[in-house]
Amino acid sequence: MLDGKRILLIISGGIAAYKSLELIRRLRERGARVRCVLTEGGSQFVTPLSVGALSGEKVYGALWSLTDEAEMGHIQLSRDADLLVVAPASANLLARMAAGMSDDLASTVLLATDKPVLVAPAMNVRMWLHPATVDNMALLRRRGVLSVGPNDGDMACGEYGPGRMAEPHEILAAIESALALPERPLAGRRALVTSGPTHEPIDPVRYIANRSSGKQGHAVAAALAALGASVTLVTGPTAEPDPAGAAVVRIETARQMLDACLAALPADIAVCAAAVADWRVAAEAGQKMKKGAGGPPALALAENPDILRTLSALEPGRRPRLVVGFAAETESVLRHAADKLARKGCDWIVANDVSPAAGTFGGDRNTVHLLRRDGAEDWPPLPKAEVGRRLAAAIAAHLKDA
Ligand code: CTP
Repeated sequence: MLDGKRILLIISGGIAAYKSLELIRRLRERGARVRCVLTEGGSQFVTPLSVGALSGEKVYGALWSLTDEAEMGHIQLSRDADLLVVAPASANLLARMAAGMSDDLASTVLLATDKPVLVAPAMNVRMWLHPATVDNMALLRRRGVLSVGPNDGDMACGEYGPGRMAEPHEILAAIESALALPERPLAGRRALVTSGPTHEPIDPVRYIANRSSGKQGHAVAAALAALGASVTLVTGPTAEPDPAGAAVVRIETARQMLDACLAALPADIAVCAAAVADWRVAAEAGQKMKKGAGGPPALALAENPDILRTLSALEPGRRPRLVVGFAAETESVLRHAADKLARKGCDWIVANDVSPAAGTFGGDRNTVHLLRRDGAEDWPPLPKAEVGRRLAAAIAAHLKDA
């Protein structure tokens, strides 16, 4: 599978660097050619000698000299590969990548490359969860940087949580899928996807919500990213893992979702798959509501903004070229969906049956119909991931023709 593929492996500083030695071995077993750059931090954990012995190639390091530059310039080094892999990717190197710095060989090749980049972050759990790292990762993903891990687990520093570098076999799988990326027909396009439910507070401890799992929206985001789009996923609370390659913005309420969507513009594509609460409590109580002699409270509701309709009605230039909505219906699915297409002003509607008998909410399969202004397509029952892939392919084909 990796026969003849050229991987430039950048090993930055972290205890997980020892796993990169195993990664080199496995890559070579599969026929890949592995050239390594060892950062100064990386060389504190593994030696150029072991990296060189396992890769069978010269190791490029912090001691980058003019002689090296004459032999192979850093630009050539950065381009003479099919894929750049950063494993382990330290918080420091991720921050320097995000900032576009080029103050050592590793950051310079990462800035100079025109090839896909895959990072395998590894760091202390607090460093991984720090807003600075969260923002840096979101920015890198928006720029198309692929990532694998980190995993949850015991850390060398004695803490527990996310931050352990993905295992060599997981990085290998991510490398294989990165290299197998067929065409990326949505490369250079920006997509906005909404997913999951919204939570509308009643008081500080209670909220109104719905049964959306976010599976379908997340699958659409993953599929658009796999076709090369820069995806921003705005999601309500879900248990779904972040889709690979998407920048994820987490919100709770419909109004926050709208703000996050408007902030993510401009976009070429918008897919609204979220099950946005239609109503919120008009006056959220500042303190926990107590039982009392007056009996249960009457909750007055106010209507939430309609995100799909707002995006569809934006002025030309700001409106995404293709706006796709979902219609969750429990009966007369096609009739209600056609009505929604007209009412919301979007371009396409993916209509799905969410009656309890269909098992769509929370389930892994979905039976949908794609309604465009000029007709409808009925899709067979499919896993939600496949619905995402088909929709992304239809979007790519539409934008190509348009
Ligand atoms: N939608 C939205 N903002 C809202 C309500 C819905 O963006 N406040 C979007 C959904 O993401 C979906 C589409 O509108 O793409 C249709 O959602 P659905 O709940 O089926 O429609 P509603 O507008 O709520 O219509 P109704 O409740 O009358 O069926």
